[in-house]
Amino acid sequence: MTVASSTTSASVIGPSWALVVAAVLVSGLLLAGPALRRRYPVAWWLLLGFPAVAFRVIHTWRPLMAGCGLAVSRRPALTVVSGLVGKGAPPPQPRVPRCGLIRPTSRGFVLLVRLLPGQVPEDFVKAAPAMAEGWQVHAVRATSWKPGIVRVVASAADPLAAPRVPKQRGPGHLLRVTVGVLETGAAWVLDLRRVPHWLIVGATRSGKSTLINALVAGLAPQPVALVGIDCKGGMELSLYEPRLSALATNREQAVRLLAALVGMTLDRMTVCRTARVRNIWGLPDEERPVPVVVIVDEIAELFLVASRNEKDEAQAAGTALIRLAQLGAALGVFLVVAGQRVGSDLGPGVTALRAQLGGRVCHRVADPGTAEMALGDLNPDALKAAQAITPEQAGTAVLASGDGWERARSHLITESEAEAVAAEYAHLTPVLSELHLEAP
Ligand SMILES: Nc1ncnc2c1ncn2[C@@H]1O[C@H](COP(=O)(O)OP(=O)(O)OP(=O)(O)O)[C@@H](O)[C@H]1O
Ligand SMILES: [Mg+2]
Repeated sequence: MTVASSTTSASVIGPSWALVVAAVLVSGLLLAGPALRRRYPVAWWLLLGFPAVAFRVIHTWRPLMAGCGLAVSRRPALTVVSGLVGKGAPPPQPRVPRCGLIRPTSRGFVLLVRLLPGQVPEDFVKAAPAMAEGWQVHAVRATSWKPGIVRVVASAADPLAAPRVPKQRGPGHLLRVTVGVLETGAAWVLDLRRVPHWLIVGATRSGKSTLINALVAGLAPQPVALVGIDCKGGMELSLYEPRLSALATNREQAVRLLAALVGMTLDRMTVCRTARVRNIWGLPDEERPVPVVVIVDEIAELFLVASRNEKDEAQAAGTALIRLAQLGAALGVFLVVAGQRVGSDLGPGVTALRAQLGGRVCHRVADPGTAEMALGDLNPDALKAAQAITPEQAGTAVLASGDGWERARSHLITESEAEAVAAEYAHLTPVLSELHLEAP
């Protein structure tokens, strides 16, 4: 008897204690939640945020799939049979894809979904915004994982709101610079050897010059020549003058500098041809000419024309830029072209130039035309993401290249920081005598 009663009381006390402990733990976590979220966002997400969102995903899965048109109706025959057999019974519910295992990541979660017959990954791509709303997360991306399976990746909060900035140490790899952070948390690396020419667009104060600051700060310690074309009177690029091998501050100078750059590129071509190599990287180290990165800030200043004389200059500048872009990659000349507005109204040269600039960075834009010019021919989804960037998110941009698109944010490198880096590495500035032009 005694044994039986003690067993009963132990089994009553056991679970009740466990409940009390669990309740204390949960309420402790909830109370400490905001502080935990601020100081240890990953721990907060894994302990509190993720379980709540995972519950929401499971709870809303069926209605969400049905609402997004991702439900597939049962075979009509089955419906008929069910009507005959189960008189008055509800008709069979449409099938929805099965929700795979929801796995947490440090900033969100990921799940795999097996497509039902007749479905394609694009159906999920279209439904991604509705999923983000339904699950109350920042963003959802759906990508094709392997045939028949879609990978759904959700990020709980905007990782670019307060990105953790990995600082680059030392000169790093030649022509490769970490300029910011990607939405995935990985470093945003601008690799000119992989994608040699870039177009950077964005409205005023959207972050173009800050990105150029980061690029120059990363390139300054490397054995490369930097050339600036800043037809806003040198307001932006003259900061780096000690580290620049040449700087043009008006259109007339720009035209002469670009012509000299084309001449230099053609000379390099002759060197390569004589050595029977296809590009400067095939030349022996001691013969290889120094790579030249040409930075153009405010392309519209080069192309906008008011008079006949200016039209000729603009045309000459445009033709030279296109030639540099066509020939440059193999001959060690790289272009980084920035502008607020890059529309076809600037002339046919702009459209032709754009086609040569394979790397695209689109910050917040003032007109859809510019975003379209930068991203539209590469990826329509990227276009939507770029148009959603708000003025508060300066430095945030959509990157697109042939491989796809992603969101990123540049490091906040201020003008004074960039100026200091340029001064520190001024002694590395290569002298390119062919670019030093006397005034006519
Ligand atoms: N990556 C960033 N992170 C945080 N703030 C940023 C970032 N990039 C830019 N900003 C903020 O936006 C401001 C304007 O940026 P920036 O000068 O680069 O714009 P811009 O596109 O070059 O403008 P403009 O066309 O007028 O020259 C900066 O002074 C800074 O305060
Ligand atoms: Mg600027």
